Amino acid sequence: MKHIILNNHEGMSDYCANIILDSLNQNPALVLCMASGHTPTRTCELLVEKIQKEKVDTTKMTFIGLDEWVGLPPDNEGSCHYYFQHHLLLPLGLKPTQFHLFDVLSEDLHKECEKMNAVIESKGIDLMIVGIGMNGHIGFNEPGIPFSNKCHVAKLEEITKEVGQKYFSGETKLDKGITIGLQYLMQSKQVILLANGLKKAAVIKEAIKGPVGTAFPASIMQTHSNGLIITCSEAASLVQ
Ligand code: F6R
Repeated sequence: MKHIILNNHEGMSDYCANIILDSLNQNPALVLCMASGHTPTRTCELLVEKIQKEKVDTTKMTFIGLDEWVGLPPDNEGSCHYYFQHHLLLPLGLKPTQFHLFDVLSEDLHKECEKMNAVIESKGIDLMIVGIGMNGHIGFNEPGIPFSNKCHVAKLEEITKEVGQKYFSGETKLDKGITIGLQYLMQSKQVILLANGLKKAAVIKEAIKGPVGTAFPASIMQTHSNGLIITCSEAASLVQ
């Protein structure tokens, strides 16, 4: 695993957008899996700008959404579905056959997990872009979840529900999440974890220097042979 430190959020977003762009240029059939959240928003904006400017072919790529809050309709502006649609899928004009998002209104979430397991097992993931939560979660892989998990429904920790309120205009009941499991992170050809701001300094230190184990899911990054952590200098301030 490598750690790259850029000056600020703009710098790290540009660096990450360029990696995605290069991957897409090298492999137009790229399978890209991404988290939503505040951290990757600028990466998405820059990626869309670069793809449009350079007229990169996106007709063969596949997009996979990393996770979703259970029970939220896709038109809820705080949902991952809404985020992916507005930040990537619509601006890039991806066809419905090119993307895979969890349907959390489905009555059978177990089936949703199996559907996503099947997609990932048939296509593989070339590049996964994730964030890190204040409890070390990746996606909704909360502390204690086995690294061998495939897609699953997770009961969310209090801190995840509290911090998650930042995505919504009004108080929103959050209880469970559905997520791609860490087995698929390990099987992805490349994984990038993004973190910015002083608020992420302690969790970045734990992810990079702490013991590897399920108590702190992001510690799994230390074991990925093609894992990259990209942070700003503030988020890196406790590991420098
Ligand atoms: C969201 C997701 C979460 C976030 C994490 C950090 O799809 O997978 O694990 O990546 O909670 O969120 P931000 O980027 O808002 O700090």
